[in-house]
Amino acid sequence: MEIVICKSKEEASRKAADMIAALVKKNPKCVLGLATGSTPVAMYSELAKDVKAKKISFKQVKTWNLDEYYGLAPTHDQSYRYFMNENLFKKIDIQLKNTHVLNGLAKNPEKECKSYEAAIKRAGGIDLQVLGIGSDGHIAFNEPGTSLKSRTSMVHLTPSTIKDNARLFFGGNMDEVPKSALSMGVGTICEAKKIVLLAFGAGKADAVKGMVEGGMSQFCTASALQAHNDAWVFCDEAAASKLKLKEYYAWRSETVLKG
Ligand code: PGA
Repeated sequence: MEIVICKSKEEASRKAADMIAALVKKNPKCVLGLATGSTPVAMYSELAKDVKAKKISFKQVKTWNLDEYYGLAPTHDQSYRYFMNENLFKKIDIQLKNTHVLNGLAKNPEKECKSYEAAIKRAGGIDLQVLGIGSDGHIAFNEPGTSLKSRTSMVHLTPSTIKDNARLFFGGNMDEVPKSALSMGVGTICEAKKIVLLAFGAGKADAVKGMVEGGMSQFCTASALQAHNDAWVFCDEAAASKLKLKEYYAWRSETVLKG
């Protein structure tokens, strides 16, 4: 795992965007795994700037999102489909038919999850997966206690995630946050060829510490990334503040990034 510690969220978002832009340039038909939440918004804005400046094009890119609330229609303004349309897809030149988000209204969630995985496989697998991290160490909606080999399935949110999500979304109302979701599994995520995880703010410091320097454990599902051989963590100083070896990571990532 490479840990890139930046002075600010803006700098980290730009660096992560550069990594994605480089892939899109090299392979205009690449397959991206995308994430929602407050964390990737600045990075998505950077990518939109690159498209506007004609540095990159998403015309042939295909995307699969990590998760969706169960019970929310794609048109619901708190659904992850809606979020992606507003925060990225409408701002870039991607073809909407090439973007995929799990259907929160699926009558047969098991079937929906299986066909989602099959579609990713048919597309050749995910070349680069974007991730945030929950304050409890989750990736996608894989809460503590989820198998590190889990596949895409129906999952249930912890009270802390419901609280975090209500704080930023749903007008602060915890009762409005769905308690279940459809989510890519930890095992599914770890099959992506490259991973770019973003983490900002002191509220993520414990989760980042657990992911990077804790034991690999289902108690912090992000720790599964320790076994991935091309995983990058772009964080600000606050999110990195509890890391024991932060000076070493900073030096190493400088060397690796400059190649
Ligand atoms: P956030 O959520 O970006 O809104 O902090 C991250 C996550 O839960 O994965």
